[in-house]
Amino acid sequence: MKIALGSDHGGFELKNEIIEYLKENGYEIKDFGPFSSESCDYPDYALKVAESVKNKEYDFGILVCGTGIGISLAANKVPGIRAALCSDTFSAHATRQHNNANILAMGQRVVGVGLALDIVKTFLEAEFEGGRHQTRIDKLTAIEEKYSK
Ligand code: RB5
Repeated sequence: MKIALGSDHGGFELKNEIIEYLKENGYEIKDFGPFSSESCDYPDYALKVAESVKNKEYDFGILVCGTGIGISLAANKVPGIRAALCSDTFSAHATRQHNNANILAMGQRVVGVGLALDIVKTFLEAEFEGGRHQTRIDKLTAIEEKYSK
């Protein structure tokens, strides 16, 4: 499984912890940056990861900023992206099962490393259930199409 990662300065350290975890567990990863903890803008990195997932170069994306809010908002501007901000494993599991989320977002200032890695594991191992949930995702796509004209 191929995973794209990005953050801003507020999520830089947690991103690095997640990268180590993913490498140790046999995932193929691409780090879209940043590569230092210098101040930067989360939309720049959200866009790189979201486009790589939308273009199917990577199976899933993982984004981290201070709260996870800004970087998830930015990723969700890219059509076809369903970025879910998760601070607990129940939501991480449910968002794969029900929303077919393709990006996991987290806040470095919100969750500790141990919980964050459990959230990552849960998200990547859960599976989309389809059925009535696909109908609802199709309605999300219809909203995107309505406002893309
Ligand atoms: C950066 O200070 C912070 O605003 C950012 O990481 C994030 O929390 C925004 O939503």
